[in-house]
Amino acid sequence: DGEIIFRQLFDTSGSSTYTYLLGDPISKEAVLIDPVKEMVERDLAVVNDLGLKLKYAINTHCHADHITGSGDLKKQLPELKSVIAKASGAKADIHIEHGDVISFGDASNVINLEVRATPGHTDGCVSYVCENMVFTGDALLIRGCGRTDFQGGSSDKLFDAVREQLFTLPDETLVFPAHDYKGRMMSTIGEEKSLNPRLGVAKTKEQFIEIMNNLLAVKKYANMLI
Ligand code: FE2
Repeated sequence: DGEIIFRQLFDTSGSSTYTYLLGDPISKEAVLIDPVKEMVERDLAVVNDLGLKLKYAINTHCHADHITGSGDLKKQLPELKSVIAKASGAKADIHIEHGDVISFGDASNVINLEVRATPGHTDGCVSYVCENMVFTGDALLIRGCGRTDFQGGSSDKLFDAVREQLFTLPDETLVFPAHDYKGRMMSTIGEEKSLNPRLGVAKTKEQFIEIMNNLLAVKKYANMLI
C-alpha cells in the first residue's frame, strides 16, 4: 500500500520554511504543504520535472513570517485549490476542520491527509497526518515550538494540542515541521516526547507556560516572528 513521492523543499529567501511535496506515482496527483510566495517558481519546476499535477496547496496555518504561495500557484494553475483551516479566518478555496481528510491520488493508491487541530501558535493551526508522517506546521518544531503570544496564540492550548493530538501518534512517526533554523530536517514523535526541552513529557503545563512567557520577552526584543 501507499507508495508516495516525497520532496522536502527549503525556503532560501529568508523564512527557513520547509515546503513539502507529496505525490501519487500512479495518477501523478500531488499536493504542496506550506508553499512560500518567493519559492513558487522553484516549486513548479520540481512539480513539472516529476510530471506531477498539483491538486491542492495546503497550509498548516496563516504564517506571520512569509506569504503563502497558494495565490501565485493558483494564477498559474487555475485548477489548483488552496486549503487552510476554517479557524484561521484566512481566505482559501477549501476550509478544513479537525477530523477532515484530504485525499488525492489514484483510486488504487489513495493518499490521505488527516487533519488534526493543533491550536496554540495560532488559533487556526492544524497538523496533517499522512501514513507514518506528520506535518506539524509551527505547533511542534524540532526541539521547540512556535511562539504563542500573538495571532490568537495560547501556551495553554498549544500544550494540550501537542500532548493530545501529536504525542498520541506512534513514537516512530516522522515529524516534519514548517521551519528549522538549524538545518535539521525531521524528527520523530518519540524523539520530541523525550527531548523537546519545552513540550517533552517531563514538562508540566505550568513549566511550559513559564518557559514560553520567558522566551517571549526575548523574541519580542529580537523582533522574531516564529
Ligand atoms: Fe507561524
